[in-house]
Amino acid sequence: MAGLVRVDGERLTADQRELSAFGRTPSGGVSRTSYSPADLDARRWFAARCTDAGLSVRTDGLGNVMVRLSPPGADPSRPAVWTGSHLDSVPEGGGYDGAAGVLSGLECLRRLAEERVALPRPVQLVVFADEEGCYHHLFGSTGLTRGFTSEQLAGRRGRDGTRLVDALIAAGLDPDAAARTGISPAEVHAYVELHIEQGPVLESAGIDIGVVTSIVGIGGGTVRFTGRADHAGTTPMPARRDALRAAGHFLTRLPAAAAGVSEQAVITCGLIDVTPAATNVVPATAELQLDYRDTDMSRMQALADAIVRTAQAAAQECTLTAEVHFEDTVEPVLLDAGVEDVVEQSAASLGYSSRRMPSGAGHDAQNMARIARAGMIFVPSAGGRSHTKEEYTSPGDLERGANVLLETLTRLARDD
Ligand code: HGY
Ligand code: MN
Ligand code: MN
Repeated sequence: MAGLVRVDGERLTADQRELSAFGRTPSGGVSRTSYSPADLDARRWFAARCTDAGLSVRTDGLGNVMVRLSPPGADPSRPAVWTGSHLDSVPEGGGYDGAAGVLSGLECLRRLAEERVALPRPVQLVVFADEEGCYHHLFGSTGLTRGFTSEQLAGRRGRDGTRLVDALIAAGLDPDAAARTGISPAEVHAYVELHIEQGPVLESAGIDIGVVTSIVGIGGGTVRFTGRADHAGTTPMPARRDALRAAGHFLTRLPAAAAGVSEQAVITCGLIDVTPAATNVVPATAELQLDYRDTDMSRMQALADAIVRTAQAAAQECTLTAEVHFEDTVEPVLLDAGVEDVVEQSAASLGYSSRRMPSGAGHDAQNMARIARAGMIFVPSAGGRSHTKEEYTSPGDLERGANVLLETLTRLARDD
């Protein structure tokens, strides 16, 4: 172990605590949805930490942030080794999802700079915008790896109905530049992301580090039931065309719809909008926003078909109509076996236990895997909890993960 540069665990923990204050809610959670005032404050705090460390910061039109380290001996024309994650959170989420990877990445760049570690390749940290998908699943990394046209951006609305261009302008970003953002595969030698596991496997097995082998595919869409508004007191129950009742029929059948496709398939509805939204009016419309996932692309299609069939059956039962609209799918990916080997060897060189495992959560790494060799490092999540205020990873677990990230980035930067 002698000779390995290590992260400063106390500084990393202090950063994590400070960052968690941005968007802290009265219940103790973190609400830092993308482009919100809390997200912008967190970005400013992060940029200041980078500047303090002498690192240059650049932000693109979507709000993706690039931080670059040119170590002594690095050839700036060679593809860099990249790491990254996100600073935005789900509503009432925790302080580790995304933040753990960004802060570990920053700590790695700082330590490489402080120790003046000579490396032949630059090292780049990226903070992806809107990973949690207020506007699109993995929005910033999708923009960087696939691109969005001006027309696509102009027509895009958030899950709460806000126009994307309005959110970008309010955040001080440039919608025209947003359509010009992108990463060329030639810029990336490899990408490695540290993330909390968000599940119980590592903690329950007593394993320090997860070496991620694959990431689940994610689909999104809306199901809109349209019935008829009527008086809540005078319309007999059998005469109603109640859109929310159809939504209820649909929701109760989703477990069977998912189970009919595969054991891994999951379907979630976390947002429902009802109109006209009054206690004494039978609902005329119910619009449900869905998230559905599976590990195999052909099963993603089967899952979409099952959602359509289930919605149509519920609509028929309630004598009304259902329209289903799907968004672009974020495809499931296999991560790079060579990068997995480097992560595993780095963990072993530090004396940490590791296990190969799939990811059921989506990550920006799955977009980066489309353009470069990509890998991920998981650290344990207490109780497997995530996307809640109970989300927690111990300082020791975070430090071990960051040390593995530092060693992995260093090894990859020394590749021929
Ligand atoms: O939704 C996800 O899996 C990720 O946390 N964005
Ligand atoms: Mn998340
Ligand atoms: Mn995340």
